[in-house]
Amino acid sequence: MLFTPANIGPVTLRNRTIRSAAFEGMGRDNNPTPALRDYHYSVADGGVGMTTLAYAGICRSALSFDTQLWLRPEIVPSLREITDGIHERGAKASIQIGHCGNMTHIATSGGIPVAACTGFNLYSPTICRGLRKDEIKTLARQFGQAVNTARDAGFDCVEVHAGHGYLISQFLSPYTNHRRDEFGGSLQNRMLFMQMCLEEVMKQAGSDMGVIVKTNMRDGFKGGLEIDDCLTVAKEIERLGVHAIVLSGGFVSKAPMYVMRGEMPIYTMTHYMKQLWLKYGVRIAGKYMIKKEPFKPLYFLEDARRFRAALRLPLIYVGGVIDRPGAEKVIDEGFEFIQMGRALLNEPDFVNKMKEDKCHRCGCDHVNYCIARMYSREMACHKHLQEPLPRKIITEIEKIKKNNP
Ligand SMILES: Cc1cc2nc3c(=O)[nH]c(=O)nc-3n(C[C@H](O)[C@H](O)[C@H](O)COP(=O)(O)O)c2cc1C
Ligand code: SF4
Repeated sequence: MLFTPANIGPVTLRNRTIRSAAFEGMGRDNNPTPALRDYHYSVADGGVGMTTLAYAGICRSALSFDTQLWLRPEIVPSLREITDGIHERGAKASIQIGHCGNMTHIATSGGIPVAACTGFNLYSPTICRGLRKDEIKTLARQFGQAVNTARDAGFDCVEVHAGHGYLISQFLSPYTNHRRDEFGGSLQNRMLFMQMCLEEVMKQAGSDMGVIVKTNMRDGFKGGLEIDDCLTVAKEIERLGVHAIVLSGGFVSKAPMYVMRGEMPIYTMTHYMKQLWLKYGVRIAGKYMIKKEPFKPLYFLEDARRFRAALRLPLIYVGGVIDRPGAEKVIDEGFEFIQMGRALLNEPDFVNKMKEDKCHRCGCDHVNYCIARMYSREMACHKHLQEPLPRKIITEIEKIKKNNP
C-alpha cells in the first residue's frame, strides 16, 4: 500500500509519502533561492509522492523571518522553476500557506505584530495588537489569493497552517483568544476566522487544486485546546470540503517541542543567534521556557486513531515516522498518507531506501540540532554539515544523546 498511488482531491500522488512542511530557512529577503530548489529536487529524486515547501506568508504581516517565502506574484517565476523540476522528477508539489500572528516582530512584519487579541508574546518577544474585524476579512481573502498565486506558480496543492499556535490556531485556542465579539468566546465563535479563511481557500481552489489543512489534535499544554475540541475543529474542516487533514499538535509560543518531541539544544540555538540580548536571554531562560517532550517513534499515533475513527476524509499522519515498518503500520491503520520532516532532512532519499529495504530505518538521532539552527540559519542536519561544528555544540549533542538513548 505504501508505494501505491492515491489522491488528494484532484491530485494523484505516485505513492503515500509526503515531505512535511519543515521550515528550510533558505529564502533570502522572502524570495526563493537555488538552495531551496536543490533541496526539494533532492527529495523528489529520493522518491516522495509530494514535497511541501514550508511556511509561506500570505502577506507581509504573516512573516516571522526574512528567510521565509512571502507568497506574492513577484516570486511566481522562481517558484515555477522549482515546481517544474519537482514535476520532472515524478513528484507533486505543495506549499504551506499561513499567517504567524504574534510570532514575529516589527522589523519583519512591517508593523506591530497582529493577533487574535492585544497582548505580549514572551517567545518572540513582542507586544501584539488585536485584529479589527475589517482586517480579519482582508486576511481571509488573502488566504484565498494565496491559492491563486500557488496555482500560477505550478503547485498542485496548498497546505493551510491552522495549527502550532500560528494565527488561525491563535483564534481557535482559548489561551490566546479572549475576544468579546463574534470571533471569541465559544469554540463555535473561535472557529469563525478559520471558517472564513477555508471558505475563501476552497472557492479559489476550484476543481484543480488540492487543499490540505494542518491542524492540532491538542495544543499540548494546560489551558490550550484538548482532543475533544480539536475533534470538533477537524469535523468542521471536513464539512468545509477540504481534501485532507494533517494531524499534528503543539503551540510554538507555549509548547514548541510538543510538535516535534525530544529536547531542544539550547546552547546550539543561542550559538547561531545574532542579537546579543536574545542570545544570552535564551541561554539563561531557555530551559525553563522550552519543556522537554520525550520522543518515541509514531508519537502522535494514539491520538490520531481517534481522528481516524471520527472522520471520513483522507488523513495524513505526521510525527516520528523513522522506518518502513512504522510507515506501513500507519497506512495499514487507515491513514491515506504519511508526512515526514526529519527523516527526509537526514536522508532526502529515505523513500527510495524504504522501497529497497523492508526494514530500512533513517539515521536521524532526534537530537534536534536542525530545529535549534532553524531560527537563525538555513536548515541543515548536523550529520551532513560541510562546516566543522564548534566543540560546545558537539558536547551538547553528545549529552542529549546520552540522556535520551
Ligand atoms: C527543522 C524543522 C522545521 C519545521 N518547520 C515547520 C513549519 O514551517 N511548518 C510546520 O507546519 N511544521 C514544521 N515543522 C514540523 C514538521 O513538519 C513535522 O510536523 C514534525 O517535525 C514531525 O515530523 P517528523 O517526526 O517526521 O520530523 C518543522 C520541523 C522541523 C524539524
Ligand atoms: S539534525 Fe539531528 S534531529 Fe535533525 S534531521 Fe539531523 S539527525 Fe535528525
